[in-house]
Amino acid sequence: MSKQEELKRAAAEAAYEHVRDGEYLGVGTGSTVNHFIDVLAERKPEIPGCVSSSKATTERLRAAGFDVVDLNSSGALGVYIDGADEANAHLELIKGGGGALTREKIIAGAARTFVCMVDDSKRVDLLGRFPLPVEVIEMARSSVARALVKLGGEPELRTGFISDNGHPILDVHNLEIMNPIELEDAINALPGVVTVGLFARRPADVLIVGAKGGVDVIT
Ligand code: A5P
Repeated sequence: MSKQEELKRAAAEAAYEHVRDGEYLGVGTGSTVNHFIDVLAERKPEIPGCVSSSKATTERLRAAGFDVVDLNSSGALGVYIDGADEANAHLELIKGGGGALTREKIIAGAARTFVCMVDDSKRVDLLGRFPLPVEVIEMARSSVARALVKLGGEPELRTGFISDNGHPILDVHNLEIMNPIELEDAINALPGVVTVGLFARRPADVLIVGAKGGVDVIT
């Protein structure tokens, strides 16, 4: 396992402390989450099942022996555990590098506690070095792209990719996100935008950072 994968695994092990027996668990998407699912499979918590943010995560959870239910059937959700592409000091995030941002934002919004796991390379002072994913309705991708240029970004269509919801994604380069809430609201207001991968209105509640010196937990 590479050093970076070891840091992700360490963050995933620390995130396991937030799993509550008897409660449905929300599970995100990505390589860090894959480590977390490995930890779940090893430790076998007494949970009734999981709510999943993507087809890929659903497959892994089921292969590990966990029941996966729809968010409409789980009742109020306690804990949601996911990774991120960038995190700032306010626990605001960029997510969606894996393209699962819409379902991730829905589950994070529904959960009582959002626990986010990253390795320390993803901590930033200013969000925006990682291209900001924006999921769009296909017929709006050019009009939304033009509006994103006016907001100061350089949108690029993610080629060969369609989300689990059947939509394309624009990755917006060269943003320096000084005010994440304002930008999230501005992009959400564009007709045809399904979801922007800025998690500022709903930041993480707990950020678990895998670092060389150990795991940091920031709340
Ligand atoms: C999935 O769409 C993303 O939001 C992921 O949570 C994010 O890209 C982190 O992925 P890794 O854990 O693979 O870096």
